[in-house]
Amino acid sequence: MERDRKILIDEETIMKRVAEMGAKITADYEGKDLLIVCILKGGVIFMSDLVKHIHLPLAMDFMAVSSYGASTRSSGVVRILKDLDEDMEGKDVLIVEDIVDTGLTLHYLIDYLKSRKPGSVKACCFLDKPTRRKVEVEVDYIGFEIPDKFVVGYGLDYNQKYRNLPGVWVLDENDN
Ligand code: IMP
Ligand code: MG
Repeated sequence: MERDRKILIDEETIMKRVAEMGAKITADYEGKDLLIVCILKGGVIFMSDLVKHIHLPLAMDFMAVSSYGASTRSSGVVRILKDLDEDMEGKDVLIVEDIVDTGLTLHYLIDYLKSRKPGSVKACCFLDKPTRRKVEVEVDYIGFEIPDKFVVGYGLDYNQKYRNLPGVWVLDENDN
């Protein structure tokens, strides 16, 4: 990743922030019935690190949605590729996502999960690109705000690649 790409957030900075977020979530969800809903595939690295800093008995489930093809811009179309396995009635659901960009995916997911009668639904996103928002959406926990650049690493991909990078990098659209 050295050539033509720039690091935006390094691994050490991410680890510190994720630990802080875990501590905050631990305090906020004390005594609740926490269900972490990780959004595949982008949320998986973040979720894996985050749950190690949440010191509560919690359950985890996974959903896969698709709003992008092989493009770096949102199509605005959200499709459910994999639904939840577990019943969520009465549970305090925390959606764990890689990034909120236009907000379309998260907006759709919050509505969808609320319709399944949970105790509560909140959202925790590793990254936020606030200048790109098309719909208003409340994000309760945000790791980092970033500028309008296409980024990869720490779960985020371009054409399914680069998810395993331990930091966040700005992708030069000329190479892939
Ligand atoms: P939204 O519906 O526009 O908010 O898009 C959310 C989804 O778009 C995220 O879950 C990501 O999968 C993808 N996405 C948005 N921006 C980026 C980026 O900079 N890099 C990689 N994926 C992105
Ligand atoms: Mg994604």
